[in-house]
Amino acid sequence: MRAVRVPVVAAGGIMDGAGIAAVLALGAQAAQLGTAFIPCPESGASQVHKDALLAAREDNTATTEKFSGKPARGIANRFMREMDGRNAAQLVFPAQNSVTGKLRAASAKAGSPDFVAMWAGQALALSRALPAAELVARLEAETVEALRRTSEFVKE
Ligand SMILES: Cc1cc2nc3c(=O)[nH]c(=O)nc-3n(C[C@H](O)[C@H](O)[C@H](O)COP(=O)(O)O)c2cc1C
Repeated sequence: MRAVRVPVVAAGGIMDGAGIAAVLALGAQAAQLGTAFIPCPESGASQVHKDALLAAREDNTATTEKFSGKPARGIANRFMREMDGRNAAQLVFPAQNSVTGKLRAASAKAGSPDFVAMWAGQALALSRALPAAELVARLEAETVEALRRTSEFVKE
């Protein structure tokens, strides 16, 4: 944050108030959370994606280009293992995304996580299934609590 003269929005792997407080302490002006909102009832993610996020562990993600033609991180599943394992041929983005679209949709509709692109950041294990407004309220309370706790180290 000392290296630039523009506001810094920290992103990636932030899932709770402790994470937000940590990036504010590092000098960020704001935190951006993506994965944390995927399990919310308001999110359009498929149910298999939401269920997999809530059951996932820290080491369950991997990056792949095979869904869309561009690298992205998601919960490792059969599609990723088989396509990356045999280094299958792929089209350039967004053609690959079009090619896999029907398979991804059919898999989600059938309730199978095998061929769904279940995008997720590396702190996915901290996922919570809460309505978005409640999640935001909790994030705020946790951030305040974490900042208060850290301020106890400041000598008056
Ligand atoms: C609905 C959604 C769409 C996203 N689209 C993109 C994208 O097009 N390109 C990209 O680089 N990252 C994309 N991301 C990943 C975000 O950059 C990432 O979620 C963000 O940096 C926060 O990291 P986190 O998910 O670990 O909280 C997307 C994330 C979500 C939830």
